[in-house]
Amino acid sequence: MGKSADLPDLTVRGGLVALESGLQAVDLGIRDGRIVAIGEPGMLPRGGEVVDAKGLHVLPGLVDAHVHVNLALGEFTTRDSFAEASLAAAYGGTTTIVDFAVPGEKETPRDAIERRKEEAAGECYVDYSFHVTVARSLPEEVLAQLPPLIAEGFPTVKAFTVYRDLVMIEIGEVRTLMATLAGHGGLILVHAETASIIERAIAQCVSAGETSPAYHPVSRPPIAELDTVRSVIGFAEETRCPVFFVHLSTGAAPELLRDAHAKGLPVYGETCPQYLILDESLYAEDDGERFVCSPPVRSHGDRLRLWKGLANRSLQMVNTDHCCYDTKQKTLHRDFFPDLPNGLPGVETRLRLLLTEGYAKGRLDLRRLVELTAANPARLLGLYPRKGTIAVGSDADLVLVDLAREGTIRAADLHQATDYTPYEGRPYKGDVVTTICRGVTVVHEGRSVGRRGHGRLLHRKIDHRELAAL
Ligand code: URP
Ligand code: ZN
Ligand code: ZN
Repeated sequence: MGKSADLPDLTVRGGLVALESGLQAVDLGIRDGRIVAIGEPGMLPRGGEVVDAKGLHVLPGLVDAHVHVNLALGEFTTRDSFAEASLAAAYGGTTTIVDFAVPGEKETPRDAIERRKEEAAGECYVDYSFHVTVARSLPEEVLAQLPPLIAEGFPTVKAFTVYRDLVMIEIGEVRTLMATLAGHGGLILVHAETASIIERAIAQCVSAGETSPAYHPVSRPPIAELDTVRSVIGFAEETRCPVFFVHLSTGAAPELLRDAHAKGLPVYGETCPQYLILDESLYAEDDGERFVCSPPVRSHGDRLRLWKGLANRSLQMVNTDHCCYDTKQKTLHRDFFPDLPNGLPGVETRLRLLLTEGYAKGRLDLRRLVELTAANPARLLGLYPRKGTIAVGSDADLVLVDLAREGTIRAADLHQATDYTPYEGRPYKGDVVTTICRGVTVVHEGRSVGRRGHGRLLHRKIDHRELAAL
């Protein structure tokens, strides 16, 4: 039987829905993957499938602006495929992931984007896109590739100020890059750590024989992050290029961003669950190597200031920086921290952790949590209002959440392609019940019911009015 022109093909009924105007008891009518109607409970025309959301909160599907899938960086490559990472994301309530097209040794950013498109095609369970990445140097040939890539829907360009010889570019190149991006509607993502500070500190640790993971945070002091953040804010003032500082770890960074906002500068920042929840004392534990990421997780005081930065809008996003190494990779160089793979798995656990540590503990209300994990990443990356909000005309990306459901995080229960989670044994309160991507249920009650290949490549365009709303 053909479907009627006026009827929804899916209705989400009976939930408390996180609309932009606030939480409301409404039903959602969905047709061809988009929200077509929002109505009083029981008042929408009936038709098609019904998802019962009684007793649940309905949030926009989360957008993860910082995911590394199968990242090859130095000696190690993270373990997951696009299929695995996107399914794990769906288990965690995320319906859009944005990965990085990192050029290999002989590749240009254009080559890397084309390769990444091929690798992800037909693989993903949820929607996806890529950040362009510049690596190692910034010749004219590379700069010339950026305007067409921006015009094609890849307007976000990542620069690393550390990881020399692998991906790092010099700080002067960051400035040149920002001038180019500003002139063509682009936005820069910056991994902010000053290499020269870190390289000297690592050398000092090594020559003193201090090579256990306990010295990882010693070798990457807060000033390394703050030094680069300050320089790049200066370049933003000069060039007006919008900046997205990734994985901010220090308590002082949001305060620098706040000062920049007071001057009207377009600088934005994320932090990640690891920086909000984990403590640097973990590096001195027996399994300290499992928590190695760069920048490192820091002190209790830093964590408090990051939470404050999220609440007072100095920081705009919580994404994951998902890097799916396993314990074999993490432990191989456990006696020599400079050779450890950097990064933590987390694409699946973001919402649970934020509901538990943010919402249930009164640090974030639900509206702010939705902004930080869905609306703001969508705004910043040029996906809003298609993604990140529940509104007529938006994609029907939804996560149905039970705020009262409690449990314990265990790697064995997760779907990330690794054998550990940095949050093993942590109790949670608040869990994903159903994840819907463009009107198709991908995960329901802990079961995968979606289709590999359902996820579509998203083309994006930065909208400066949306940046101003952050
Ligand atoms: O330690 C981290 N964050 N590794 C992943 C690559 C990056 O720097 O984002
Ligand atoms: Zn980074
Ligand atoms: Zn990263």
